[in-house]
Amino acid sequence: MRISVIGAGYVGLVTAAALASKGHNVIVVDTDETRVGMVNQKKSPIFEEGLDDMLSNCIDSNHLRATGDYREILPTDITLICVGTPSNPDGSMNLSYIKESARDIGRVLGAENGHHTVVVRSTVVPGTTKKVITPALEQHSGKKAHMDFDVAVNPEFLQEGKALHGFFNPDRIIIGEEERRAGDMVEKLYEGISAPVIRMGITTAEMIKFTSNAFLATKISFINDIGNICKKLGVDVYDVVKGVGIDYRIGEYFLNAGIGFGGSCLPKDLKALVHASGHLGYQPLVLESVLEVNRNQILTMLQMVEEKLGNLKGKTVCVLGLAFKPNTDDIRNAPALEVIRLLMEKGASVKAYDPLAMPNAKSALSEQVEYCRNAKEAVAGCDCILVLTEWDEFKDESLYHGKMVFDGRRVLDPGEAETFCDYCGICW
Ligand code: NAD
Ligand code: UGA
Repeated sequence: MRISVIGAGYVGLVTAAALASKGHNVIVVDTDETRVGMVNQKKSPIFEEGLDDMLSNCIDSNHLRATGDYREILPTDITLICVGTPSNPDGSMNLSYIKESARDIGRVLGAENGHHTVVVRSTVVPGTTKKVITPALEQHSGKKAHMDFDVAVNPEFLQEGKALHGFFNPDRIIIGEEERRAGDMVEKLYEGISAPVIRMGITTAEMIKFTSNAFLATKISFINDIGNICKKLGVDVYDVVKGVGIDYRIGEYFLNAGIGFGGSCLPKDLKALVHASGHLGYQPLVLESVLEVNRNQILTMLQMVEEKLGNLKGKTVCVLGLAFKPNTDDIRNAPALEVIRLLMEKGASVKAYDPLAMPNAKSALSEQVEYCRNAKEAVAGCDCILVLTEWDEFKDESLYHGKMVFDGRRVLDPGEAETFCDYCGICW
């Protein structure tokens, strides 16, 4: 198939490279010239295991190319929209990139003679494809959706750090369609991939994506709530999960208590759902609490540090881990960044180290953080250590000997840690 992918970010590039590696001819369109240049030079602008090699092979075999010019989607059969949908300051979803891409795709579709399918792969608030994207495509093409061109929804469920694996081994493929022809086109993309394919209406498919992310976030805040109770009881929440997760109705996954969830999706999608729900006249109490518990984990960590260390003015705090989770350089909504801002507001100096995320953290944080070359350098001479991302290299106990340690990610075994450092787990 001839495929165009709009947006060369995590979702767009992974989708484009994966499809090109299956032998399709793929063109990636991005408005960011630097990203376009990097992709064409076989360099991924984002870190994702295996992506550089796959990009390189696909470009060498002429199956993949990037461009800034939307007109290049004209000869393709199907266009996948993968642009960002970040949060507005009020928590609602910022649809400006989606609207711009629908406008630019629409303009090209106006000149199209064949039949084109437009697929929304970005996460959009339920109703957006029908109410915003399809009308924009019709307006700018002067054509009628579901007659002159088709529209479908195919939400992405990838996890950063294992995105390519996720593409080739999905739990399910969700297709939202108005007419069979569009869904058939989307299903063809996944030929050779073994996973249940579930087809339904467009708005239902959009809601499935939000419900999945909301449930994952709820599991995390739920276990953090339980963990906070456990800590007061002197019980280890990780032992509790062993006994609870064995029940197949509950499951052991996504019950790692800690500093809370970050990243580019769980927080912003949850906020967008709460906001959209308010507009529908419903207050989603559970979802609101999930966000509140998540925010409180950060404040709890700060409170623990102050309780043990006293006034933070003039103290040096070492932060190990800046990425929102290991195996990524992504710092969007990473708990570590907010912790650093609050520590510095309280007058502490911060030394930090992360194996991948320091360049991104430097651009995101205006605060004067001392970035270190390795974990050993970061912990040297500090008054306490906060572990905020569970990178494997932070499991090295020699980093912590004789130190005051606040573990936000359960990198150390509490029983053992107590023998070589002044150890405090966030909710264990
Ligand atoms: P990203 O910010 O990494 O990439 C978005 C890309 O779109 C950027 O390269 C940007 O330059 C480009 N872009 C913006 N406006 C454009 C336009 N008008 N035309 C062409 N290119 C444009 O975003 P992402 O993390 O890949 O997320 C994309 C979407 O997928 C979001 O809706 C997100 O919620 C969803 N999603 C993300 C993940 C994830 O793990 N990152 C997983 C599942 C779903
Ligand atoms: C998440 C979902 O897992 C994906 O299915 C979804 O496609 C994606 O969002 C999206 O829509 O963008 P991702 O953001 O890559 O994927 O990260 P997760 O692995 O879900 O982790 C999110 C956050 O939760 C991280 O900060 C992680 O440390 C935290 N987490 C995760 C916990 O605190 N405890 C857990 O048990 C699991």
